[in-house]
Order: sequence, then C-alpha cells, then structure tokens
Amino acid sequence: MYESEILRKAPRDNAGTCHLSGRTETCAMSDITIRPLHVHEQREAYELAMRAYHLSPTDSGWKRWLEPLSADRRFGAFLHGTLAGVISAFSTELTVPGGRTLTVAATGGAAVRADYSRRGVLTALMQEQLRDCAERGEKATYGWGPTSATLYGRYGSGIATNSKNVHITSRNAIFRNDTPTGGAVRMLRNSDAIPLIQEIYQSAASYRPGMIRRPTGLWPDDLGSTSSEHNVAVHTGPQGDDGFVLYRPVNFSHDGPNLQADLFVDDLHTTNPHAMSDLWRFLTSIDLTSEIYAPMRPIDEFIDLMLIDPRQYRVGEVQDHTLLRILDVLEALAARSYRRAKPVVMGIVDRLFPENDGNYRISSQGVERTGHAAQVRMGVETLAMIYLGAWSPSTLAIAGRINVLDAEAISAADELFRPTTAPWCGTSF
Ligand SMILES: CC(C)(COP(=O)(O)OP(=O)(O)OC[C@H]1O[C@@H](n2cnc3c(N)ncnc32)[C@H](O)[C@@H]1OP(=O)(O)O)[C@@H](O)C(=O)NCCC(=O)NCCS
Repeated sequence: MYESEILRKAPRDNAGTCHLSGRTETCAMSDITIRPLHVHEQREAYELAMRAYHLSPTDSGWKRWLEPLSADRRFGAFLHGTLAGVISAFSTELTVPGGRTLTVAATGGAAVRADYSRRGVLTALMQEQLRDCAERGEKATYGWGPTSATLYGRYGSGIATNSKNVHITSRNAIFRNDTPTGGAVRMLRNSDAIPLIQEIYQSAASYRPGMIRRPTGLWPDDLGSTSSEHNVAVHTGPQGDDGFVLYRPVNFSHDGPNLQADLFVDDLHTTNPHAMSDLWRFLTSIDLTSEIYAPMRPIDEFIDLMLIDPRQYRVGEVQDHTLLRILDVLEALAARSYRRAKPVVMGIVDRLFPENDGNYRISSQGVERTGHAAQVRMGVETLAMIYLGAWSPSTLAIAGRINVLDAEAISAADELFRPTTAPWCGTSF
C-alpha cells in the first residue's frame, strides 16, 4: 500500500493532523505553508492542476492560466518545500436580486497533488483564500461547477444556482404561433461581433441574479480569429441589440451528398423573452442540422412550452452550478431587494467567520442587525442557498436545513426572498 493511501485511511483530528499507528505523521496544518505563487512557480502549478483534473496541459490553457486577473491571486500550498496544492480567484461583480451588484471573488482551480491529498491541504488553501478575500473587501466568494457536491459546505458554501442541459431535435422543432417574437436575427463576422456581444452579455447580466461581470479572458480564445469554429448571431428588438448566440457545429458527418452536423450552444444571452425565443427559433431553422445541444441553461428557460411538439425538447441533467460563500452577511443581505411581507428575524451561524453570527431583521425596507429573538435559524451555507433565489426557505426548512422557531415566519421569509427569475450564472470560470 502506498504511503498516501495509508495516510488517507488514517484517522485525522480537527487540526488536520494525521495519526498513524500511534505516531503522528508530519502533516499538521502548521507544516503547510500557504503563500502567493511566484511567476517561476506558475508552470508547475498549472501542470499540477491539469493532472488533478485528469486533463492534458495545452498552450491555450497555459495562456489562460497566466491571465493576470487570477495569476496574481493564486495561492500555492507547500509541504516541506514541495508544491502540493493550488487555488485561484479573481474579483468580479455578482448580480443580486433587485439588480444591484455585489463585489465577490470568483474562485476556482482548487487542486491538490494526488500523493498529498487528504492531509488538509485544501482546507489550508481555503482558509487562506477566504481570509484574503474578506481582507480585500469582497463580500462573498463564488465558485463554479464544483467537482464534488460534498466538499465545500464545510467551508460555509451553499449551492446558489442550478442549471440544466437541454437537447432539441431541430428538424422537428416547430414553434407555436403564439410564441413571443419581435425583431430580427443577423449573423456577424466574429471579429466585428466581439465588443457588441460583450456589451449585450453585460446588459443581460444585470437582469438575472447569479450572473457575473465576465472578464475578457473568459470568452473563447479563438473568437476573433478568421478560423474560429464559432458562429455569432445577434438579435435586434425595438430597443436595439438585445441578445446573441454563440454556437458551433459538432458531430459533423458527410455521407455522399448528405451533409449533417449538430449544433453546440456555448452562449445564449438575452435581455428579454422575445429575443430569447427568436434566437432559439433561429437555431432550429439552420439547415443541415439535426440536434442542438445546450449545456447549463437557466432552470426557467422553457423552450418546450413554445413548441408544437414539446417532446422535441429534452432536459438532460439538472445540476448544481455555482457555490456561494457569503463573507459579510450584513452587507450581502443589504445589497439585495426583498418583496413586501412581514419582517423576519433570521439567526445566522458561521463557524469560520463568527463576526457574522447573530440575528438579522429582514424587511422590504432593508436589513439590520437586531437583538430580537430569531424566528428562523440557519447556517451561513444555507443562507447562500436562498440568497439568490435558488431555493425557498420553506423548501430548506422541510429538508431540515432551517430551524423554524416561529412557524408564521417561514411563509413571510418565502415571500421576502421570492425571486422574479431563477438565478443562473451563464459563465464558466
Ligand atoms: C478535492 C481535493 C481538492 C481535496 O483536497 P485535499 O487536500 O485532499 O482536501 P483536505 O485534506 O483538506 O480535506 C478536506 C475535507 O474534504 C474531504 N474531501 C477531500 N476530498 C474530497 C472529495 N473529493 N469529495 C468529498 N470530500 C472530500 C476530506 O475528507 C476532508 O474532510 P474532513 O474535513 O471532514 O476531514 C483534491 O483531492 C483534488 O485536487 N482533487 C482533484 C481535483 C478536484 O476535484 N478539485 C476540486 C475542484 S472543485
């Protein structure tokens, strides 16, 4: 058995110390040094992350890794001088219910060498990163697509948005006559389209909680090149350009004169339902295609209801999509809006940031700390699940995640937090 496997199976105490056959291995938290990476350490960190994710290093991935946005905020974990783990972040703005934004750290790339796992390396990286983000004045961290659903709750993160993968059989997808429409779709040369679609993305982001300001480095690398595989179409409505789709052909087949491809939708963002339905109608009208795949779409995007035969639209997996870790509960709660309902006093418990512990009175007028008794009590990770509107408080109370001390308060909390649109991120980071 390899040493790492023995260590993995060995019991560990809360300080992250491994106890093995009566002796203590040298992997106490205090043995782990967390510090920002130097430039010359970035390549090793990149390769470490690629190996942890079972991916091969690529030139474009390496270029992206070096983007100053997150390279400057990448921590390495060193165990006896060896780089054992890495974690990254960049600062951005998160749209919250009501349309205001919250300054957050978009976090990702957590990776630990397989031969150093289960020794507390991630825990040490997370603690340092959370402390650093709070010190920078970021009100929350926001992580995309965690590989494990059970990993981050212990650090106070909760699932903040969900998404669904959809398929449409385009040749049979005929839209109903009453589907909202209005405007025109035009295709653009990619190089001409970039500033325009970035602007449309940003307007769309202000409509939907959960979306972030997308830095330039997160658009497809090849978008501006003449050989780009991406196609861009823009929708113009009565108020001007209000939606775009970025798509590319996949599964190309060529059998004699029969050409066929499927379409893969990388991005489809709109500021209104007319633009959304027109862009989907456009996609299904493209010749020589049979299926359209669109991963990670908003939960409340129901193209099936617009089709004569709704079964031509199929929902694959519905997945948890982003994780939110609220660092400053008062500021985060104060940033979003609330519907009219009886005020509710929520008791919040935060193990890592005890300064967040306490009772908060929430009403449509705003939020304040209060000495009044809590009517509902929850951990900061559960607050993250209701914050953007992914779940209602009553759903989480039924699941046992909210302790209801005053039965009347839960329906008031449902109404206060009730979203107008499902939260969705729409950007991979
Ligand atoms: C997942 C990963 C980051 C964990 O790192 P690590 O240094 O082994 O984690 P730690 O030793 O600090 O463990 C922290 C806790 O998470 C648990 N844990 C570790 N890996 C886990 C996993 N993959 N799934 C669920 N729980 C996990 C540990 O048991 C430990 O629990 P405890 O606090 O109750 O003892 C690391 O194994 C890795 O890089 N995996 C491949 C890449 C990946 O999945 N990255 C996560 C990106 S979202």
